[in-house]
Amino acid sequence: MAHSSASGNAPAPKHFYEPRLGHGLPHDPFNAIVGPRPIGWISTLSKDGVANLAPYSFFNAFNYVPPLIGFSSIGWKDTVRNIADTGEFVWNLATRPLAEAMNASCAAVPSDVSEFDLVGLAQEPSRLVKPPRVALSPVAFECRLTQMIRLKTAEGAEVDSWLTLGEVVAVHIDQRLLKNGIYDTAAAQPILRGGGPADYFGIDAAQRFELFRPR
Ligand SMILES: Cc1cc2nc3c(=O)[nH]c(=O)nc-3n(C[C@H](O)[C@H](O)[C@H](O)COP(=O)(O)O)c2cc1C
Repeated sequence: MAHSSASGNAPAPKHFYEPRLGHGLPHDPFNAIVGPRPIGWISTLSKDGVANLAPYSFFNAFNYVPPLIGFSSIGWKDTVRNIADTGEFVWNLATRPLAEAMNASCAAVPSDVSEFDLVGLAQEPSRLVKPPRVALSPVAFECRLTQMIRLKTAEGAEVDSWLTLGEVVAVHIDQRLLKNGIYDTAAAQPILRGGGPADYFGIDAAQRFELFRPR
């Protein structure tokens, strides 16, 4: 099968850099390249019972059975501290109608202040874990901590970042998103994080295409 690059058959000239020496560009392109990313909008409960809510775009799913999801906290933030203390968290789907509230929930506030109250979002109780769900979010995963891994450099030096992985033990889905039982990704209006200080992307059913794996 013949493939060609955007500039024809010759490989396009490349901007090359080693991140440890700087990218040489007006903005670090890393987040814009690895994007758009789904958002881990994570609710937790402190050991004193304060509900916490914060978005994490270094987030993804890592396993089917059992379903495992994870996110990376750059620094030991309230969310990871609460999960380390309680072993539980909830992932809430961030949607276009909730985008402004999601963004407001990243405010750096003292740990005795709940972002639910700060941004005026109602809570809904979870079924198997204690942290509440975002009531208006159409999908939520109740999770139990499986691993918390401190990240390292290639040389083995510890980085002040924490990858938190959890098993999804319960799932809530707005029934209107199930069309003949099939989850309709676009209808949920998920928002995805791009690069730069403020870029987000939505998705559109018209952009969907199918590829079946070779047999
Ligand atoms: C869309 C979005 C994505 C974010 N992704 C991350 C991330 O992946 N890792 C991180 O450490 N902080 C991320 N942040 C910043 C945190 O949300 C912010 O530091 C927040 O105050 C942490 O809250 P907490 O201390 O209650 O856990 C993100 C913020 C926004 C708005």
